[in-house]
Amino acid sequence: MKHETIEKNVGLMAILVMIVISAGGLAEIVPLFYTDSTTKPVENMRTYTALELEGRDIYIREGCHVCHTQMIRPFRAETERYGHYSTANEHVWEHPFLWGSKRTGPDLARVGGRYSDDWQRAHLYDPRDVVPESKMPSYPWLFDNQIDGRQTARKMEVMRTLGVPYTEEQISGARAEVEGRYEIDAIVAYLQALGRTHDKYTQTR
Ligand code: HEC
Repeated sequence: MKHETIEKNVGLMAILVMIVISAGGLAEIVPLFYTDSTTKPVENMRTYTALELEGRDIYIREGCHVCHTQMIRPFRAETERYGHYSTANEHVWEHPFLWGSKRTGPDLARVGGRYSDDWQRAHLYDPRDVVPESKMPSYPWLFDNQIDGRQTARKMEVMRTLGVPYTEEQISGARAEVEGRYEIDAIVAYLQALGRTHDKYTQTR
């Protein structure tokens, strides 16, 4: 077929363009479902504990991900500040993932261990107590709300159906681990775990 025929026939051109784009798209997307670097967890990764998992849910409820990303991009300015860039295999057990898309505050992908628990608590109670120019909201209610733990084991079971390898032991001990703890304990435990559920990139921090 002469190329001219295609160029003069808009309908045919549109169909062929769609075929080309689909083939290109599939060639880029399909392998991501099969390569180890995107489907298998990074070496020695541990799951979030029951308390950290509850903290993660509070993080979502409070919309922390609206101002904070958990996705360090592979640029020098980012890796100097936040540590090794984020990799797909660090996130295979994240449901839903919390990469975020906008940074009003800093990236938190590797914030675990950067500050003490006391700093994190003071900062969440009122960010301006520790960072005077901060625009971050205060979250004083985290210090009043207790976690009842009735749903924790169920949440872990659901995570397991999504491929997170929680053990029977972790699930049966979940309620006791979180019951009566305050929301602030859970969210601080979660923040301190960020980037520290494996040690692959700690040496480059
Ligand atoms: C309105 C936007 C906004 C929201 C919502 C928000 N933050 Fe922030 N956050 C900021 C800004 C701006 C900073 C930088 C100033 C500071 O340290 O307070 C910051 C800093 C931080 C830091 C210190 C990071 C570092 O590397 O210095 C942590 C940890 C943090 N936020 C956690 C949270 C958590 C947890 C929540 C949800 C409970 C939250 N933030 C919600 C804007 C926000």
